[in-house]
Amino acid sequence: MSEPIIEVRHLSKSFGTHVVLRDVDFTVKPGDVTCVIGASGSGKSTLLRCINLLETPTSGSILFHGQDITEKRFDPCGYRARVGMVFQSFNLFNNMTVLDNCTAGLRYVLHQDKETARRTALSNLEKVGMAPYINARPRQLSGGQKQRVAIARALSMQPEVLLFDEPTSALDPQMVGEVLSVMRKLAADGLTMIVVTHEMAFARDVSSHVVYMADGVIAEEGTPQDIFDHPQNPKTTEFLTRFLSR
Ligand SMILES: Nc1ncnc2c1ncn2[C@@H]1O[C@H](COP(=O)(O)OP(=O)(O)O)[C@@H](O)[C@H]1O
Ligand SMILES: [Mg+2]
Repeated sequence: MSEPIIEVRHLSKSFGTHVVLRDVDFTVKPGDVTCVIGASGSGKSTLLRCINLLETPTSGSILFHGQDITEKRFDPCGYRARVGMVFQSFNLFNNMTVLDNCTAGLRYVLHQDKETARRTALSNLEKVGMAPYINARPRQLSGGQKQRVAIARALSMQPEVLLFDEPTSALDPQMVGEVLSVMRKLAADGLTMIVVTHEMAFARDVSSHVVYMADGVIAEEGTPQDIFDHPQNPKTTEFLTRFLSR
C-alpha cells in the first residue's frame, strides 16, 4: 500500500458563526481520482480551498506527505506549486498570451529560465490540444479552450495533485466534452486528482473514490459502485435521484 499524499483530518471551517465544514475526514493516495459531489452550498469549494490554503481551516489538520500544512510556519507558495488548482471560471491572466499564462508560474515561482519554461508549457499545451493557440489571448478563445489552457498552466507546474472546482460548470454544453476528455486522459496517465463535479458520468467512470457532501459533512463515501449503485445513506439516494432526473 502506498503512503497517502493528502490526509484531511477532522477539518472544520466556519465563517463567523456559520459552520461550513464539520469534521471532514478523508485520505488521498497517489493516483487516486477523488470526486466530490453534493448540492450547491454543501461546502465542496470551501473544502478544496482549504486543501489549497486559499482558506484557513478553523480546526483540524491537512497533512501533505505527513506534514501539517495548517501550521503557521508552513510555506504556502511552494506547496501550491505541488498542489495545483483549476477553477470554474478559468482565472487566466487576460492580458497575457496563452503561452505566457503557462510559463508565468514556471518563471516567477519556480525560477526556470525562459527556454526551459517554454518547453514545459508547450508540451502541456500539446497534451490539451492547445499548442496551435500559443499566441492567442484568453478573450479570443472559447470557454472550453480557456479551460484547457488553465489545465495546461496547472500541469506545467508539474503538480503532484491537481484540484478541480467544477471545471465544466461555466461551459456551454457542447464544450463540456472536450474538457472532460482531457481530464480522463490525465486520470489514465495516473495524475492524482480531486474533482468537485456535477458530471455524474465522469464521477462514475473515472473516479476511484467518491465523496458525497451534504451540509458541510461527508454524508457518504466509497467506490463509485458503492455510491451510485448501492448508496447506504438515504440523503445520497435522494441527491442522486434528484440530480439524475434533471
Ligand atoms: N468567504 C466566505 N464567507 C462567508 N461564507 C462563505 C464564504 N465562502 C463560502 N461561504 C458559505 O459557505 C457555504 C458553502 O459554500 P461552498 O463551499 O462554496 O459550497 P459549494 O461549493 O458546495 O457550493 C455556503 O453557505 C457559502 O455561502
Ligand atoms: Mg462550489
